[in-house]
Amino acid sequence: HLETFLSKPHAEPNMVLAENAKRVVAEFDFHTEALQKAVDEFRREMDEGLHKDGTELSQIPTYVTGVPNGTEKGLYMAVDLGGTNFRVCSVQLHGNSTFSITRSKTAVPLELMEAKTSEELFAFLAKQIEAFLKEHHDEHYTTYKHRKSIGSATDEEIFSLGFTFSFPVHQIGINKGLLMRWTKGFDIQDTVGKDVCALLQAELDKLHLPVRVAALVNDTVGTLMARSYTSPGKTRTLLGAIFGTGTNGAYVEKLDRITKLANKKDAGDYDKSTGEMVVNTEWGSFDNSLRTLPNNPYDVELDRNSNNPGIQMFEKRISGMFLGELYRLALLNLLNLHDPRNPFYVSESREEYGSVSTKSRVSKDSPIFKQWGLDTSFLSICAGDNSTNLRVIRQTLDTEYSIQDVSIDDAKAFRDIAAAVGRRAARLSAVAIAGIVLNSGMLEDESEEVIDIGVDGSLVEFYPGFEAYIREALREVPGIGEKGEKRIRIGIAKDGSGVGAALIALVAAGMAGAGAE
Ligand code: GLC
Repeated sequence: HLETFLSKPHAEPNMVLAENAKRVVAEFDFHTEALQKAVDEFRREMDEGLHKDGTELSQIPTYVTGVPNGTEKGLYMAVDLGGTNFRVCSVQLHGNSTFSITRSKTAVPLELMEAKTSEELFAFLAKQIEAFLKEHHDEHYTTYKHRKSIGSATDEEIFSLGFTFSFPVHQIGINKGLLMRWTKGFDIQDTVGKDVCALLQAELDKLHLPVRVAALVNDTVGTLMARSYTSPGKTRTLLGAIFGTGTNGAYVEKLDRITKLANKKDAGDYDKSTGEMVVNTEWGSFDNSLRTLPNNPYDVELDRNSNNPGIQMFEKRISGMFLGELYRLALLNLLNLHDPRNPFYVSESREEYGSVSTKSRVSKDSPIFKQWGLDTSFLSICAGDNSTNLRVIRQTLDTEYSIQDVSIDDAKAFRDIAAAVGRRAARLSAVAIAGIVLNSGMLEDESEEVIDIGVDGSLVEFYPGFEAYIREALREVPGIGEKGEKRIRIGIAKDGSGVGAALIALVAAGMAGAGAE
């Protein structure tokens, strides 16, 4: 191979890449008209989901009927299962919009994500909660155990726990919900259709822990609550959204618009006095039938190789779990160019040809040849490298991905494609935000000066310019425009699954100010 490559004059090899990169960038286009159509479809699916079950946007009633105002107090526990990590924390709400939090985090072992039985996973979770109590609330825990053994323990000593479980759940009460389907790489068939709160409670009880699962919380609902508790001024938050491993949003809906709730036979009790309920949209599954979503060859390929083809189609174009993979597939398209001027040479090993090659060398063992081999964080690196010679990008390609001797021009091609994938993801995110803002009617209400949105997740937090891309798209939506976009305030709401879940546990426990001490 090398002989042939070196003997040929490499006439403008970079042009080949630049041209092809342009083509790939164009494949990730999501232009204004397409964006507008998708917003209309989103609004239609929102309404449909409020009327009946089994729709693409699930629009799950959460039984959370109010958002906090910052005066809530007490000590609560919260746990979070939603992706690669399991988090446990205790939250002290101070009642003045502030809180303190103690937390721990463990990676969920891969084999448990695909365990045979639910028990294996939930027993693991209970063990982590036990370890947390021993480490951070040992006195409370030992006293409780002792009092329990002599029969004098009381309910007040039991922690109310908010269980953030970030998967689609058919909720039938504040602490009762049946798993509809797993997402984000989890796959334990045994759990589907079961009440995940009961599964966790059973394992907690086996260990005799002073913990009661008081509330089942989607991470987006927790984000909404956390943002509302801490948001500046008296503004109430409309929407809590996650742009992380997965993507989803929960918003405050008028109770009388959730018509399917009134007809539900298995609907649990809820407080009707506020006239509102938080709805978990599960927008990851928006437009699964691809009426309006873009669908390029890499989208098709990614979906085909996933463990849930045809499902979570919106999420597969937006969230951190998938963007790296989409990008990888686009890059492979460049690397496999059947063009003798292709500036890449796939070598058997790193050392093979010293530094004589005029080509970029890609080691055969590079992770980019493996499914999921490229991490989404690389897209953030690309977006954040402002150096003239793209030093960081080239260095990362070399050290993390065994792609050596990348010229500056070629690195630019890598960067442009990364930007195209990220920008499309952000523009799609804007579709959901726009749909919810428009349907809320808040833009027409001049008394609502700002429309507050709480967001969390690795993409919004670490991808430079993600929000700027979202805003650019929002301005293109009829009914929002420049004026509306300015009224939308987007703020990071950290600890949604901690403080947010604790707040819901508080409401659920129905005794504000009386958490465990
Ligand atoms: C997935 C889950 C959803 C969650 C989101 C963000 O879309 O189905 O419940 O909110 O990821 O973590």
